[in-house]
Amino acid sequence: MTDKPALYRDLARQLEALIAGEPDRIANAANLAALVYHGLPDLNWAGFYFAQDGELVLGPFQGRPACVRIAWGAGVCGAAAARGTSVLVPDVHIFAGHIACDPASRSELVVPLIEAGRVAGVLDLDSPLLARFDADDEAGCAALVRLFVEHHARYSAALSS
Ligand code: SME
Repeated sequence: MTDKPALYRDLARQLEALIAGEPDRIANAANLAALVYHGLPDLNWAGFYFAQDGELVLGPFQGRPACVRIAWGAGVCGAAAARGTSVLVPDVHIFAGHIACDPASRSELVVPLIEAGRVAGVLDLDSPLLARFDADDEAGCAALVRLFVEHHARYSAALSS
C-alpha cells in the first residue's frame, strides 16, 4: 500500500527544485504536468486548463490530445472552476456533463488554481481506473498547485514593485 502523503511530499520537493528561479508559467506548468503524470501511478492524462475570457483553454499536459475549450461550469473542469473548489469524480460515467476527451478515462480529479482570490485555471488528472483518486490525492494535488501559484505570485509581485 502506497504512502500517498509521502509520495506527494516527494513530488512537492521535486516541483520546488524544478521551478526554482524560473518565472515562465508555461514552462513551469509543463514540468508540473510531466512530474505528476510520471510520478503518480495509473493516470492517462494530467494537465492544465487556464481561464481565458470566461472559458477554460487547454494548457500544458501529458496524455492524449484533449478538447481545447471548456465553457465555465461545463464538465468536471468547468465545475471546479465555477465552484472554486476541487472536484473528485470516482466514476465519470455518473457525473452529469462529464466531457469525455479520452473514452478510457473512468475517474477524475480537478483542482482549481486560485490566484489573488480568482480562479486562474485548473489542474486536471484522469485515470483509467474507477475511484482512482481519494482525499490524499486531493490534498496532495492542492499542495502542488499552491506551490505553483505562490511561486508565480512572488514573481508578479517582484515585477510590479
Ligand atoms: N473530462 C474533463 C475534460 C478534460 S479531459 O478529461 C482532459 C471534464 O469533464 O471537464
